[in-house]
Amino acid sequence: MQIKKVPVNMLHMAIYNPRKDLQPADKEYKKLKKSIEQFGYVEPIIWNEQTGNVVGGHQRLKVLLAQGETEVDVSVVNLEPVEEKALNIALNKISGEWDNEKLEQLLADISAVEDFDASLTGFDMEEIENIIADTEAVYFRDKLEPGGSGILVNSFVVPPFSVFDTRQGYWQDRKRYWIDYGIKSEVGREENLVFAKNLNLSDKVKGTSIFDPVICEIIYKWFNVDGGSIIDPFAGGSVRGIVAAITGHGYMGIDLREEQVKSNFENAQEIGIESDSLKWICDNSLNVDKYVEDKQCDMLFTCPPYYDLEVYSDNPEDISNMEYQEFVKTYSEILIKSAKKVKDNRFAAVVISDVRDKKGFYRDLTGLTKAAMEKSGFYFYNEIVILNTVGSGAWRCRGNMRNRKVVRIHQNLLVFYKGDPREIQIVFPELKAEDEKMEEAEECQL
Ligand SMILES: C[S@@+](CC[C@H](N)C(=O)[O-])C[C@H]1O[C@@H](n2cnc3c(N)ncnc32)[C@H](O)[C@@H]1O
Repeated sequence: MQIKKVPVNMLHMAIYNPRKDLQPADKEYKKLKKSIEQFGYVEPIIWNEQTGNVVGGHQRLKVLLAQGETEVDVSVVNLEPVEEKALNIALNKISGEWDNEKLEQLLADISAVEDFDASLTGFDMEEIENIIADTEAVYFRDKLEPGGSGILVNSFVVPPFSVFDTRQGYWQDRKRYWIDYGIKSEVGREENLVFAKNLNLSDKVKGTSIFDPVICEIIYKWFNVDGGSIIDPFAGGSVRGIVAAITGHGYMGIDLREEQVKSNFENAQEIGIESDSLKWICDNSLNVDKYVEDKQCDMLFTCPPYYDLEVYSDNPEDISNMEYQEFVKTYSEILIKSAKKVKDNRFAAVVISDVRDKKGFYRDLTGLTKAAMEKSGFYFYNEIVILNTVGSGAWRCRGNMRNRKVVRIHQNLLVFYKGDPREIQIVFPELKAEDEKMEEAEECQL
């Protein structure tokens, strides 16, 4: 390469240059200008001394001229006009492809550096955010594979956005990670509960919904104090209790169905969890006062029946087996009673979904939950939409759309807080990456 300092009046813009001629107002021009201001003139303009034409770097030259440069270092070539034109295109065409995974990781690393302007990469922040959104897959894989970096995932498990996309590979990987622990949360629930009651599709759609262990892991990490105890008035399967035990939290789950409570204990035993702080109680949760005093727990976390979407038993005390008004009354009462068991300056989280009545109108179970929680001093603090896999939804599209009913493929995760929000930063420490915590622990030991 031959670098030579040439007066700018000898550098002629090639009139045939097929690249869009940027104007100072153009976004790309501003990025280039910013990059040259930040990093200097590091990539030489290509100049053909035979014709006097600039072959590559027209926009860079524009920026330098605007900066008042009178002479510029250029890489000199000596080409016939046709070769010059071919090189001009090649310089713009042959740019190689991104290795997307590495690009995503690099952009995530750069944008995680505080006070550094990541748009100096030439990607604007919106582009970077979109690209990073895909990064989690990489980070998560790193997290699962020993030696992985995983900045965001290490700290938060998944990105702290108001949508949990459970269809993502990294989510499914994490779920499998928990299932591989041996969690069998569907055990203890009758087969074919799903939709049977409402849609008579039971012969087409088999199986029962199980609660997602990744949601438990996230909720306990983000909204519970270290080692904090959890009250769950609609325990259902073993998953919320077992994830609590494995992540070092106490858990008390109440469920009306004996067979459910029995199989939860069996599942915990199978996994080898013997902890006094993991309890399931078989009773009507209206009797929660019998089991725990007020303000003894650190969190309420539950997932009630979505009214009669799944009917769990023919027990008249089962809120999924009640007339709607009685469901409303009992569900609210159970939530209010259970919420009182939680200390001040603590969170509560409820996974719920609105469900349609026989006419197709939605029953506002999310609104009902918010109203009941507010009555017990818990105010609505975060809303998260849980995107489910489409699963049986695809079956229902055609039928549903005859009545113009879109198919619901999400659930709602409602997070509430009781107390003085200014206490949150005091009670809930900064979420640190696991290895950061380890380092600190080691330092303490030294
Ligand atoms: C399984 S969970 C709900 C799960 C959630 N809707 C889902 O789709 O994953 C609901 C549980 O609430 C229990 N339940 C219903 N009424 C109850 C009551 N009054 N007291 C305690 N548990 C009750 C049922 O036995 C059932 O196991």
